[in-house]
Amino acid sequence: MEPHILILGAPGAGKGTQSRRIAEEYDVEHVTTGDALRANKHMETEHGTPASYMDEGELVPDPVVNEIVQAALDEADGYVLDGYPRNLSQAEYLHEITDLDVVLYLDVDEEELVHRLTGRRLDPETGDIYHVEYDPAEDEEVAERLVQREDDTEETVRERLRVYRENTEPVVEFYDDEGALVRIDGEQAPDEVWEDVRDTIESNA
Ligand code: AP5
Repeated sequence: MEPHILILGAPGAGKGTQSRRIAEEYDVEHVTTGDALRANKHMETEHGTPASYMDEGELVPDPVVNEIVQAALDEADGYVLDGYPRNLSQAEYLHEITDLDVVLYLDVDEEELVHRLTGRRLDPETGDIYHVEYDPAEDEEVAERLVQREDDTEETVRERLRVYRENTEPVVEFYDDEGALVRIDGEQAPDEVWEDVRDTIESNA
């Protein structure tokens, strides 16, 4: 059976960057609630549109997100789950619907997170992630089409980090108390983080 991998970390810790590599290396599905919600940002639900929460840096209500995750996991054999669970109630829901083989936590200091997120740029054609300083696009054509995510302004980033501390840090503690969590130094360069991620998966999955 393909591995079931959960990757936790604050906004900007590098979950998206590492998850893309995990999905490629292990040929598993990259299940990311952030991307799924962005693709349906203006969808009307009985709780309003996802955009009305996301653009403020707040969490989208659990019923909307739980449904997305359940549908995605039902279709996947192996997966890397990124951006979920974000509160204890989502963690309980996840526990009911699947088993995890590896729980990774990318550890990064808060001011570094702000710097990474405000400097992040995305390629709308490929989904590739860049950074104005750490990882600028070399190709001029690519550089010209890069965009900034709407919630990557400094004000919204600070609110996302506050919401993370309040809601998601208890999730990290929950997996830590279970003895399932493997902490990885997310402040290293992306290739070094990747080596630790890969070693952890190899020895746990
Ligand atoms: P989501 O899209 O999940 O965003 P996030 O968790 O806030 O995380 P990010 O994608 O912003 O960061 P990342 O860790 O993936 O960093 P990245 O690899 O890009 O969620 C967005 C919103 O959707 C939420 O605010 C909420 O409203 C809603 N939502 C989503 N899931 C939900 C849920 N379960 N429940 C309720 N609501 C939900 O890296 C960041 C930058 O750093 C990049 O520029 C990258 O190039 C650079 N970088 C990466 N690694 C390194 C490194 N090692 N060294 C230097 N730079 C690096």
